[in-house]
Amino acid sequence: MYTKRVEGRTMVIHELLLKVVVLGALLGPYRNSKAEADDLMTKPGCRSSCGHLVIPYPFGSSDSSSNCRIDRPSFTVYCDNSTDPPIPYLHDKSSRLQISDIFVNNHEMRLTVWTGQDCYNSSGHDGSSSNYPGIFLPEFPLSSTKNKFIGVGCDTLAAVEDRHGKYSFGCMSFCGDDSEAINGSCTGIGCCETSIPRNSFYYQISIGSVSNHSNVLDFNPCSYAFVAEIGSYNFSVGDLKQLKFGDPHLVLDWAIGNQTCEEAKKNSTSYMCPKNTNCIDAENGSGYKCTCLEGYQGNPYLEDSCHDIDECADPTINPCEGKCHNIEGSYTCSCPKGYHGNGKKGGGVGQGCIVNPSQLMKILVGIAVGIIVLLFNIGFLYFGYKKRKLIKLKEQYFKQNGGLLLQQQLQECDRTIKTAKLFSAKELEKATDNYDERRIIGRGGQGTVYKGSLPNNMVVAIKKSKLGDQSQIEQFINEVIVLSQINNRNVVKLLGCCLETEVPLLVYEFINSGTLFDHIHDPHKSSKLSWETRLRIASEIAGVLSYLHSMASTPIIHRDVKSANILLDANYTAKVSDFGTSRLVPLDKKQLSTMVQGTLGYLDPEYFHTSQLTEKSDVYSFGVVLVELLTGKKALSFDRPEEERSLAAYFLSSLENDKLFQIAEEVIANEGNNEQVREVANLAKRCLKIKGEERPTMREVTMELEGLRTMANHPWVSGIDVNPKETVHLLVEKTEV
Ligand SMILES: *[C@@H]1O[C@H](CO)[C@@H](O)[C@H](O)[C@H]1NC(C)=O
Ligand SMILES: *[C@@H]1O[C@H](CO)[C@@H](O)[C@H](O)[C@H]1NC(C)=O
Ligand SMILES: *[C@@H]1O[C@H](CO)[C@@H](O)[C@H](O)[C@H]1NC(C)=O
Ligand SMILES: *[C@@H]1O[C@H](CO)[C@@H](O)[C@H](O)[C@H]1NC(C)=O
Ligand SMILES: *[C@@H]1O[C@H](CO)[C@@H](O)[C@H](O)[C@H]1NC(C)=O
Ligand SMILES: *[C@@H]1O[C@H](CO)[C@@H](O)[C@H](O)[C@H]1NC(C)=O
Ligand SMILES: *[C@@H]1O[C@H](CO)[C@@H](O)[C@H](O)[C@H]1NC(C)=O
Ligand SMILES: *[C@@H]1O[C@H](CO)[C@@H](O)[C@H](O)[C@H]1NC(C)=O
Repeated sequence: MYTKRVEGRTMVIHELLLKVVVLGALLGPYRNSKAEADDLMTKPGCRSSCGHLVIPYPFGSSDSSSNCRIDRPSFTVYCDNSTDPPIPYLHDKSSRLQISDIFVNNHEMRLTVWTGQDCYNSSGHDGSSSNYPGIFLPEFPLSSTKNKFIGVGCDTLAAVEDRHGKYSFGCMSFCGDDSEAINGSCTGIGCCETSIPRNSFYYQISIGSVSNHSNVLDFNPCSYAFVAEIGSYNFSVGDLKQLKFGDPHLVLDWAIGNQTCEEAKKNSTSYMCPKNTNCIDAENGSGYKCTCLEGYQGNPYLEDSCHDIDECADPTINPCEGKCHNIEGSYTCSCPKGYHGNGKKGGGVGQGCIVNPSQLMKILVGIAVGIIVLLFNIGFLYFGYKKRKLIKLKEQYFKQNGGLLLQQQLQECDRTIKTAKLFSAKELEKATDNYDERRIIGRGGQGTVYKGSLPNNMVVAIKKSKLGDQSQIEQFINEVIVLSQINNRNVVKLLGCCLETEVPLLVYEFINSGTLFDHIHDPHKSSKLSWETRLRIASEIAGVLSYLHSMASTPIIHRDVKSANILLDANYTAKVSDFGTSRLVPLDKKQLSTMVQGTLGYLDPEYFHTSQLTEKSDVYSFGVVLVELLTGKKALSFDRPEEERSLAAYFLSSLENDKLFQIAEEVIANEGNNEQVREVANLAKRCLKIKGEERPTMREVTMELEGLRTMANHPWVSGIDVNPKETVHLLVEKTEV
């Protein structure tokens, strides 16, 4: 059999297993409003709290005067100052009823839980660890709706007894090992629970076992039993070994006196419910409870405490759709002028605010105007959005198309351009001191050129396109693609580019001595440009163009040959640059139809009229540069008379009138190279033929210039070591002259 210990008393098993389940009546619609904390809860001059506990009237602190509570000892809160924070007890410390909360509006009090435990060790019952609390609640019963009785253990019979031994209720739990128990589940395996009957004033816990825990001792030495608020205890399998409690509490119901409302109202001096309150009978018909009227809040036991709630101040507690008017104990809703209805939210007939017919017209007009304005706004927003999207798209496209194309091109031309690399935006920012104005070395139609120095002390030129001009970005990409195909010492070398920025940045080798244009037209510099140098420069440029036109894969037409696009280094070596407008010509096409691009003064008139781009356009432009070198005059000058503005026309007419040496640069005229000058002038004349077909090819031009140079270096008379190739050149010239 099993033994059961209840402070010496024994009980019959039938009694124990009898579960008295009496559900309490549902609580009335008490509002536990947050205002409870805001309102004054205590009589003036009385202690209002103990530790964390607010002491509301009709409860009062034991150290305040007796006026601070109602005239019943059960409503005394004893505050134990010896701990920090102080601990409040119901009635006095010896009651062991430690209070957590007192709620006035729903007449509840929360107390900490007393846990009973019944323990065993290998030699049997372990009396020193066991404990069976028995507490008499003098006036306030356990809440039957808010509490549960809970037993924990695997060899456990747990019960609560009535003081008079009239009834007992409880539950039992058995299990073979703890693997059967489930966390959070209190259904009879490791944990059991049962409801509390009404009017339970006596809290006497008894716990028993069937086999002295001998089969489960290793994981469950003790059984536990307690009453706790529903939800405040959560079973965990670990509790079988040692019960761990978070913040468990139980709930007591309280009421005033031992009379019903009706009886109490008869004696107006002892009746407790003041103005603006209701009286409600306690559940067991003994005692009554005061509550503030609907629409009021405060402490219903204090005079003048229940006051009107301003429902309109908090939109979550009033259902008004229109205007809200607070009135004593309630509120009303109304509709604005021009509307009718009850002003309350909801879809029923008469609910909400409905516009009056006369008002309807005005509102419709208003809506129409609103819509028009809205459409305008949407239009604006839409176009703004489109534009932004376009810009974004451009960036993206640039990165995708330009970047990918470039990568592809660079891969293809890996053999020729080994050094081309992608620079990071940061790298170039650093190289140019964040694009400092003082670093600008050139500003052209295509953008700005900065002088920069890379970390390895290499000086570079960085070309930055003008912001936001799509055609220039295309030209940039074009230039990269074209330059990536070229490997020639007389072409400015592209070192790499940067695609991370809004506009691409191109990085070139830095050519330090400026443009050919400067050298020809700056009087100081032009005097240092000897005939021999001029001839070499012309020959180098011609070589580059010839090379471009004859490129095996895809010939390239430069399209913008001019002295300003030819850079000179310290040794006066020519470097052709600015391939932004250059075109790659597919091999199967002799000419391309394009938009006319180029610089006035250098522009091929045939191309200008027909828009048919051929390599002969470069020949014409080169002819102009040649004349520039010969004469030192600008390709287009508005200082000259109208018919002489274009250098080409001026030159041709002078040649016609045999005035070549009048217009030739002084340096040249004085150098005694008249024969060569005449040859070059003739060559220029042929380059400047109106009809493209009649112009020589760049290859022929190059050969002739090379021939002239060789003749200068190796005078005919000492031509012993003339190699056969040169002889051929000279012969060609001879026949042509
Ligand atoms: C507790 O302390 C308060 C002041 O903090 C004092 O008024 C009260 O008398 C003390 N009560 C007890 C029981 O010592
Ligand atoms: C079991 O508990 C009893 C009572 O507390 C004690 O006297 C005894 O020594 C314990 N036995 C063991 C094995 O711990
Ligand atoms: C049960 O909960 C305890 C702690 O709360 C945890 O250690 C254990 O792993 C849980 N068991 C299961 C089966 O979830
Ligand atoms: C109780 O414990 C279970 C399992 O550990 C968990 O899922 C559940 O959320 C817990 N419930 C509460 C109220 O803590
Ligand atoms: C349980 O222990 C008690 C003494 O503590 C003993 O009288 C009883 O026989 C034991 N019961 C079982 C089933 O071991
Ligand atoms: C009600 O309480 C008073 C004291 O507050 C007591 O004298 C009286 O006997 C009680 N009446 C009943 C019916 O319990
Ligand atoms: C009314 O209550 C007061 C105070 O509790 C008491 O003195 C008085 O006798 C009561 N009167 C009646 C008629 O019960
Ligand atoms: C109501 O509660 C009182 C204790 O305040 C108790 O004596 C009485 O028996 C209860 N009445 C009923 C009808 O349960």
